[in-house]
Amino acid sequence: MNLQNLTFETQLLDDVPSLMALRAGLNTGVLRVLLNGPVARADIGPQTALPSDGLDTLLGLFRQCGMAGQEGDYWHLTPAMHALMVADPIALKRRADFVALAACDVLMHGDSLLSDPQAFQRAAATFRFFRYDRALGMGAAHLEDTAPWADYVSDLTAREGPDLGPLIPLEGVDHLLEVGGNTGVFARGLLELNAGLRATVLDLPAVCHLGARRRPEALADRLAFLAGDAREIAWPAGDAVLFKSVLHDWTEEAAELMLNKAVQHVPVGGRVIICERGPIAAEPVMHGATVAANLVFAQYYRHPEFYEAVLEAAGLRVLPRRSVTLDMAFHVVAGERV
Ligand SMILES: C[S@@+](CC[C@H](N)C(=O)[O-])C[C@H]1O[C@@H](n2cnc3c(N)ncnc32)[C@H](O)[C@@H]1O
Repeated sequence: MNLQNLTFETQLLDDVPSLMALRAGLNTGVLRVLLNGPVARADIGPQTALPSDGLDTLLGLFRQCGMAGQEGDYWHLTPAMHALMVADPIALKRRADFVALAACDVLMHGDSLLSDPQAFQRAAATFRFFRYDRALGMGAAHLEDTAPWADYVSDLTAREGPDLGPLIPLEGVDHLLEVGGNTGVFARGLLELNAGLRATVLDLPAVCHLGARRRPEALADRLAFLAGDAREIAWPAGDAVLFKSVLHDWTEEAAELMLNKAVQHVPVGGRVIICERGPIAAEPVMHGATVAANLVFAQYYRHPEFYEAVLEAAGLRVLPRRSVTLDMAFHVVAGERV
């Protein structure tokens, strides 16, 4: 996504009236109607699911939020809104839906988020969205339940990839095993950056199925999917194991177990690599509703020192940390087996 679109999208998602107008405009079809050019006010209603006074309120919000303008009786999208709608309206809707869900969760259950993360998980709709349990099967219903969150995660990763990919230390690596690599979006970026590299994405069965369906034919012999529970199935040989935005899903003990398994798995000279957001408390500035999409995971993002200590204790030589700031600080922690 180009910077202009990203800036305008963030502006819309960050504020309650614009977030509401965006979701309502997408859900009722009003934005789609306006996409086709200036439309007379009287012609909008019959093409959408809105009564007249609801439509007036929505159009008023559109105007205030820079989404649409009016000339006489005709309404049109602003150039910025038009560009967003043309770029990827489905991804826009996924992002808007998730930010709205997360914002409701942190506002309604912020106290339990801070005091009792497990109670927050039970109460928060966000955590019912990520149905990893449904991804264990491969039937049509499993795929249907898995696609929404796998797609949301894939969209995010497609945005992060260009900044994070170059920070992943893969010099000299032939075969990368990416644990929890979702539909392979990040791995595909790494294959583009590293000409001689092959990668295997290990993820839950429904996720792998969705990823394999999207894999370009040209990558068939460089990108493989291995379906299963990473804790249980045998890992294929590889000289690096990567966990990108995965370990925050696990308790410290479970993350440590997974990292130790990776350390045992790589050969001498091989690497274990972790790429994760840093702790929320270390963020210098946070504002707007988009922050909620990360705030729901506030109690799970860790200091990179935690991962470095685990790798060091397992006998790896820890490489210099690489960091970059996107929506939050990301840190790449890596260790080499000596
Ligand atoms: C937060 S997502 C991150 C996905 C991806 N690495 C990215 O950054 O886009 C966590 C991923 O871990 C996968 N996952 C969760 N539990 C798993 C398990 N037991 N074995 C393998 N993969 C698992 C999920 O299916 C999901 O794709």
